[in-house]
Amino acid sequence: MFMPVGTQASVKGVAPAQLADPAVDAQVVLGNTYHLGTRPGGAVVDALGGLGEMMRWPRGTLTDSGGFQMVSLSRFAVVSEEGVTFQSPVDGSEMLLTPEVSIGIQNQLGADIIMALDDVVSSVTSGPRVADAAARTVRWIDRCVAAHARPARQSLFGIVQGGLDLRLRGECAAALVARDLPGYAVGGLSGGEDKGSFWRAVAASLAALPPGKPRYCMGVGYPEDLVVCVALGADMFDCVYPARTARFGTALVPGGLLKLRSAACAADFRPVDPTCPCSTCATYTRSYLHALAGGGGEGVAVAGQLLTLHNVAYLTGLMRRARTAILDGVFPDWVRAFMADLYPGGD
Ligand code: GUN
Ligand code: ZN
Repeated sequence: MFMPVGTQASVKGVAPAQLADPAVDAQVVLGNTYHLGTRPGGAVVDALGGLGEMMRWPRGTLTDSGGFQMVSLSRFAVVSEEGVTFQSPVDGSEMLLTPEVSIGIQNQLGADIIMALDDVVSSVTSGPRVADAAARTVRWIDRCVAAHARPARQSLFGIVQGGLDLRLRGECAAALVARDLPGYAVGGLSGGEDKGSFWRAVAASLAALPPGKPRYCMGVGYPEDLVVCVALGADMFDCVYPARTARFGTALVPGGLLKLRSAACAADFRPVDPTCPCSTCATYTRSYLHALAGGGGEGVAVAGQLLTLHNVAYLTGLMRRARTAILDGVFPDWVRAFMADLYPGGD
């Protein structure tokens, strides 16, 4: 499944009811510990009945542990054995996110799936820092497990690190599997590495994880990457990509990308994707979205919201079709057809 990202307890510009609609049918929405722990705060979310209840989202919820967002939001994040120290870009205040603090906040947020605090290094980092981060991620999983107060209600997933080093990936995965967690994630990728290195690191991580438990590729959202990672055994994905690219006026469509700001859309009266069941495609023309997205002012934001809904529907739909193909025993043919659509020239 593809899980849309609602960092601050909302998927930007899309209402929970739209995500549950059969045209989108999202199963799980993501929240983030750092953002929600800052505002409205773990105690408030807890008092509101938890993340899902607060946002009136009747399906699954998952929170990321916060460290990754700290490191990616700030050049001032410092990692030590204790945890991640972070200077707020808003008011300069310091916060120390330890495994215990992250799990404590995630217990208050109450998501169905919570993520271990991991030591994330950029996938293009090399040298001893990569092995240190993977080893620290394993030491931190024991602190996360010990701090977890609601194991019967919230499933704690561990995260495989190890950069592009396949041996480290396998060792980190094996150490997590020894803890018999309810699910596992592959982290530290999709950060500028080349495709071959990305796929090999995913393959090495997934191969060392039990196929009978959920395997989650974090931060992966390009359609082609989703399909390849599913073929390698991944079950779950999240990414801000469909929303971010929507805000730049780009739609995900079966053959690739459709840039609504392009002059070719100015008098194109077709929907974004005639095969898509989403309400944007059922209601609006490319021509209208071109005018909104290229006009400046409020229209740009409205186009971003309409295209976010479409792009999320595209990815949830893509994963639904992959699932159906697997269940029908025709997945290899389905992958070939998908790739042939994307690369009509065969390369
Ligand atoms: N989101 C994308 N990649 C990662 C990762 O490596 N760790 C965590 N915690 N979240 C992520
Ligand atoms: Zn659509």
